[in-house]
Amino acid sequence: MQRPRPRHVALVPAAGSGNRMQSGRPKQYLEVLGRPLIRHALETLCAAPDIDRVYVVLSVGDQEWDSHDWSDLAPRLVSLFCGGASRADSVLNGLRAIRDEMADSDWVLVHDAARPCLAPWHLERLLSLSDDEVGGLLAVPVADTLKRDDGHGHSVETVARERLWQAQTPQMFRYIMLRRALERARGVTDEASAIEAAGLRPRLVEGDASNLKVTYPLDLHMAEWILANRAR
Ligand code: C5P
Repeated sequence: MQRPRPRHVALVPAAGSGNRMQSGRPKQYLEVLGRPLIRHALETLCAAPDIDRVYVVLSVGDQEWDSHDWSDLAPRLVSLFCGGASRADSVLNGLRAIRDEMADSDWVLVHDAARPCLAPWHLERLLSLSDDEVGGLLAVPVADTLKRDDGHGHSVETVARERLWQAQTPQMFRYIMLRRALERARGVTDEASAIEAAGLRPRLVEGDASNLKVTYPLDLHMAEWILANRAR
């Protein structure tokens, strides 16, 4: 009997506090072009023809999600109030929460809520990995010369940038492979690190700098500029 084609689902960890934004409000709800920051990526994910479902992982005590209207993104968008202490915990809790709906070989695309400028072409590039065994991530080759400091603001070393990439999201891996890798690897800051620690080699899919992560206040303005100019 032929096995059904693996499905693709997206999982969006959005249970962070966003302290580096100095705003006092979780950054996924800060306004970007008049809408909550998280809404931009959710719209792109929900509109992608190859993505069946979009799960957003919120903190248990999230006070704001239900005050916004998400009905236009239903039924694809599903909220899970099971965030953890770290990003990796939030992703793992989300993966455990959806275990009954997933086949082992289904693909999970983990995307940071803090990357609002995700575009359809980013997704298309990553989804071209669907015949790969392991999966991979969007990333951009490092352009700047990198320095390591001595802990006191002086440069002690120049790190060669050859073969260095900046990891972005989405990162796409098979459901069971990702869950097991995250269960074993503690303290990782992205899914690809957990997969690497399991001895596997995620494929690097070249993205572009427009898929930036909003971390500091200036990033919010850059994200608005990118989205506004794309829309035109
Ligand atoms: O803080 P940072 O920008 O690295 O967070 C990346 C993503 O991980 C954000 O979407 C944030 O909401 C999410 N996160 C989470 N649970 C945490 C910490 C961060 O879902 N405990």
